[in-house]
Amino acid sequence: MDIKEQLKNDVYEVLKDYVKKEDIIIEKPKMRQMGDYALPCFTYSKILKKSPNDIANLIKENLKNYEINVINGYANVFINKKDFSKNILNKILLDKENYGSSNIGNNKKIVIEYSSPNVAKPFGVGHLRSTAIGEALKNICLKTGYKVYTINYLGDYGTQFGKLIYAYKKWGNEEEVKKNPIVELKKLYVKFHEEAITNPSLEDEGRKWFKKLAENDSEALELWNWFKEESIKEYEKTYNLLGINKFDSYIGESYYKDACNEVVKEIEQKGLSKISEGATIVDLGEDKVPAIIKKSDGTTLYITRDIAALLDRKKTYDFDEMLYVVGTEQKLHFEQLKEVLNKMGYDYNITHIGFGMVLQDGKKMSTRGGKTASLESLLNDSIDLARKIIDEKNPNLKNKEEVIKQVGVGAVIFNDLKNYRINDIEFKLEDILKFEGETGPYVQYTHARINSLIKNMNNININYDLININEYEWNVLFSLGEFKDVIVKSKLNYDPSLIAKYIIDLAQDFNKLYANYKFIIEDENLMEFRLQIAYCTKIILKEGMRLLGINAPDEM
Ligand code: ARG
Repeated sequence: MDIKEQLKNDVYEVLKDYVKKEDIIIEKPKMRQMGDYALPCFTYSKILKKSPNDIANLIKENLKNYEINVINGYANVFINKKDFSKNILNKILLDKENYGSSNIGNNKKIVIEYSSPNVAKPFGVGHLRSTAIGEALKNICLKTGYKVYTINYLGDYGTQFGKLIYAYKKWGNEEEVKKNPIVELKKLYVKFHEEAITNPSLEDEGRKWFKKLAENDSEALELWNWFKEESIKEYEKTYNLLGINKFDSYIGESYYKDACNEVVKEIEQKGLSKISEGATIVDLGEDKVPAIIKKSDGTTLYITRDIAALLDRKKTYDFDEMLYVVGTEQKLHFEQLKEVLNKMGYDYNITHIGFGMVLQDGKKMSTRGGKTASLESLLNDSIDLARKIIDEKNPNLKNKEEVIKQVGVGAVIFNDLKNYRINDIEFKLEDILKFEGETGPYVQYTHARINSLIKNMNNININYDLININEYEWNVLFSLGEFKDVIVKSKLNYDPSLIAKYIIDLAQDFNKLYANYKFIIEDENLMEFRLQIAYCTKIILKEGMRLLGINAPDEM
C-alpha cells in the first residue's frame, strides 16, 4: 500500500464512526514546507459537532506515527520520509513503466474520436491539436484501466465536395493534382469561391454536383474517391511523422450518407421535426438555434451524419463513454447533437473535448487562404531546427537523424499539450525547441542526462539507517509518489496538461538536486540512494512522455 493510502486508513480509524472512508480528503498543502499532506477538517465539523481545529487535534493525538501541525482547521502531516522513500523507490524499481497504472476504468469502454482531417484540405494545426490531445487521452485511458477504441472520422462528405468536383471539371488538371494533391485541390476550392462572388450561379452548380454524389452518380463518385485517396496518402505522411500508426476505425462522414435518411425518418416519426422554408429542422427551444437535419433539396447535413454515426458506434462498441476531440469552435454543434439525441430518447454519455486555437504572433494560425504551410512542413521546420541545435551540441551523436526527429516532433506535441486544452496556445518555433524552460526538449534532455548517469548504479541494497534525506532529494521522491494521482486526475478532467506540467516539475526538481549534490561519491550507500532516485526519475519521465505521445531518446 502506498503511504497516502496508509494515511487515509489511519485517519479513517479515528473518524470511522462519523465518516465514510471515501469522504476523507487528503490535499496538498499550499507550500511544501507546511507539510507533505494536508487534511482539511471543516467538512467533518457538522457531523462531529466540533470545531475544525478540535478535529485536527483529535487526529493528531491519535496518529502518533506522523508529525502533525494543526493550523486553521487543517491537520498538516509530515510523513516518515525514510519509510516513504524506501517504499516508493522499491515500488518503481519493481513495477518499472507500469508504475502509476490504475484500474479506475474497470474495463469500461471508451470510444475516442480524434484527428478527423477534411479530405482535399490540408491537415491543419487544429487537427494537430485534436490528434495530440486524442492520442494522449487514449494512452491515459488505457493506463487507468479503460478499454479504448479510436476513430478517425474523416471529413469526406458535404456540399464542399460538390463544389470541388465542379471546380476540378472546369479548371482542374490531372497531372497537377497528382503531383501535389492537397495544394492543387485547395487552389481549385479557393478559385471556386472567388469566381462565385461575381458569378453566384456557381453555387447552384456546386449543389447540383453534391446532389449527384449523394445519388451515387458514377462520375461524381469516381472523382470524389480519387480526391480522397490522394488526400489520405498525404495524411499518412503526417501520421508517420507523429508516430501514430493506427486508429481502430477510419470510417468517415460519407459512410453515413444512407443511414442519414433513416435518422431523418426516425426523427420525423417521433414527431420531433418541422418544415421551415423547405428544410427539415428540430426545434431546440426558445433562444436556441434549431438543428437543420435536411436541406430543402433533400441532402443531409453534418449533424445528421453525426447522429447516424453515433447510433452506429453505440451498436458497434456498446461504449460507456464517447469522447469527441474537436475544437471549441464546434461547441454549438455538439450541444445540438446532444439535445437532438436526448429528444430522440438516447441518453448516451457523450462529451465534447474542446480545445483552443493555435496562435502565431497572437493571431489565429490557419491553413486557410493557403498562407500558412501544411502541418507536414511545420513539423519538418521543427525537425530542421532540432537538427541545427543537436549538430551544435552533440555532433557525434549515435542515431542522430532518429533523435533529431524525436526532438523536433516532441517539441511540437509538448507545446500542444502543456497548457490546459481550452486555452489558446502560441506557436513559436524558437521557443518550443529551447532546451531550457517548459519544453519537450528540456524533459527529453533531462531524461537523456539521467540515462548516462545511472550507468554507475551498482544495484546494492541501501541501508536507510545511514541516510539523511535532504530537501532536494525529498522533493524528487515526493513527486515520484504523486504520479499515479496525476494520471487519474488527468483522466477525470480529460486534461493531458496535468501530466505535462508534472513531468516539467519533476525534471526541474531533479535538476536542482543534480546541481546541488554530487551523485558519484565515496559513500557507496548514499551514491546508490541518489542513483536510484535518478533511475526512478528516468522511468517516470519516460513513461510521462509516452503517455503524451512523445519519444524519449536515451542520448541527445
Ligand atoms: N472533420 C471535422 C473538422 O475538421 C471534425 C470532425 C469532428 N467530429 C464530429 N463527429 N463532428 O471540422
